[in-house]
Amino acid sequence: MPKITVLPHNVLCPEGATFEAPAGESICDALLDNHIEIEHACGKCGACSTCHVIVRKGFDSLSKMSEKEEDMLDRAWGLEANSRLSCQAKIGNENLTVEIPRYTINLVSENR
Ligand code: FES
Repeated sequence: MPKITVLPHNVLCPEGATFEAPAGESICDALLDNHIEIEHACGKCGACSTCHVIVRKGFDSLSKMSEKEEDMLDRAWGLEANSRLSCQAKIGNENLTVEIPRYTINLVSENR
């Protein structure tokens, strides 16, 4: 199984983490399964940007990005070339290194 390395995040995972996750699972589910409570305000349907992660290694092994995901990502805080919505990005066959951005923009709680 691919190994997922999560870089330290002040609140969600201060020490960082490493775990294995099956190919085909979304990064978001893999994080939640391993007690890293990443936000997922829209219920993982690709309609917010709170589950944004930056994939430092293994980006090309993930499932392809849809146009909808690209559009939502544009609203994410701290967007980078290797950004993904973790609920939409399915793990492939390579190890990943994932960074959770410091902030999220929670569109749901802003009542838009
Ligand atoms: S949880 Fe909303 S886009 Fe991933």
